[in-house]
Amino acid sequence: MSVADVAYDIVGREDFSDVTYLLEIREPDLARAARPGQFVIVMSHPEGERVPLTIADFDRDRGTITLVIQAMGKTTREMQAGLRPGSSLYALVGPLGRPSEIGTAKTVVCVGGGLGVAPIYPQARALKERGAYVIGVIGFRNKTLVFWEDKFRAVCDEFIICSDDGSVGIKGLVTDGIKQATAAHPDIDELIAIGPPIMMRGCAEVTRALGIHTVVSLNPIMVDGTGMCGGCRVKVGGRTRFACVDGPEFDAHQVDFDDLMFRLARFKPEEKIALERWQQGCRIESAPSVP
Ligand SMILES: Cc1cc2nc3c(=O)[nH]c(=O)nc-3n(C[C@H](O)[C@H](O)[C@H](O)COP(=O)(O)OP(=O)(O)OC[C@H]3O[C@@H](n4cnc5c(N)ncnc54)[C@H](O)[C@@H]3O)c2cc1C
Ligand code: FES
Repeated sequence: MSVADVAYDIVGREDFSDVTYLLEIREPDLARAARPGQFVIVMSHPEGERVPLTIADFDRDRGTITLVIQAMGKTTREMQAGLRPGSSLYALVGPLGRPSEIGTAKTVVCVGGGLGVAPIYPQARALKERGAYVIGVIGFRNKTLVFWEDKFRAVCDEFIICSDDGSVGIKGLVTDGIKQATAAHPDIDELIAIGPPIMMRGCAEVTRALGIHTVVSLNPIMVDGTGMCGGCRVKVGGRTRFACVDGPEFDAHQVDFDDLMFRLARFKPEEKIALERWQQGCRIESAPSVP
């Protein structure tokens, strides 16, 4: 585990769209320790919020980890505006969470919805390296939001891309892609899905009917990431679990998605105020000064 006593240098950045960006960070110990499914918590400056982010990739030779971030609210937009190669994060803790079980399933569907394409990628790669037959199903709202298509395709034996508006791949949701895959492969052993809770719930409903073991990665609000604060509690199989230490991956057919979505929306008014204050500060800073 690495703690904030040194700078965590940003060595790469790529912008996929107005809202999605990639940061590559030098941290050789973390790159060595990281396993698929794990996450980090970052702070961009001493007064900053703690933000949990999945390790979307790691390069042990370069000693770097990759994060793919969606600019949602105040902190992820502040990071989008301020972090570039040459700058650094104030704090980085990880790897956190239990690594994904790569298991023994022979035919596996890896589903990534929107930003979920990034965190599912290391699992798809690990499954492919282990010799599984990997079917990738990824979905975006439209073509302009697509990222990592070629990178993802390279670790899949079959690949289906979907878009809500039909501007790329099949017109429809990832659940339509799953139905296409399951119709062609009655032997699918497992499906892993990462994306917005509503998407993961939809995937779980499709596979429940087919009896396919399904795993999802949950993203409740996290604070410490070490099982101490209780912020990330989720209901799974009627029991309370802490996603940061017991997960973030769980059996999708046991997850109470309504509870997850309710808890994720708890701080909406405060999040709105924080974003508005930050945007107001940005406008004042960028206003031309009066001579
Ligand atoms: C294990 C895990 C892995 C994640 N991986 C990624 C990732 O790889 N890329 C990515 O872009 N996002 C990821 N997220 C979500 C990311 O942490 C939130 O989008 C971010 O904290 C929002 O902060 P904000 O200030 O920009 O937005 P806010 O306006 O504060 O929040 C926007 C929404 O983000 C969620 N959120 C807010 N604070 C937290 C928090 N402390 N923990 C979790 N969710 C929060 C809530 O649903 C909230 O409504 C992950 C979350 C978890 C729990
Ligand atoms: S984030 Fe505090 S217990 Fe999980």
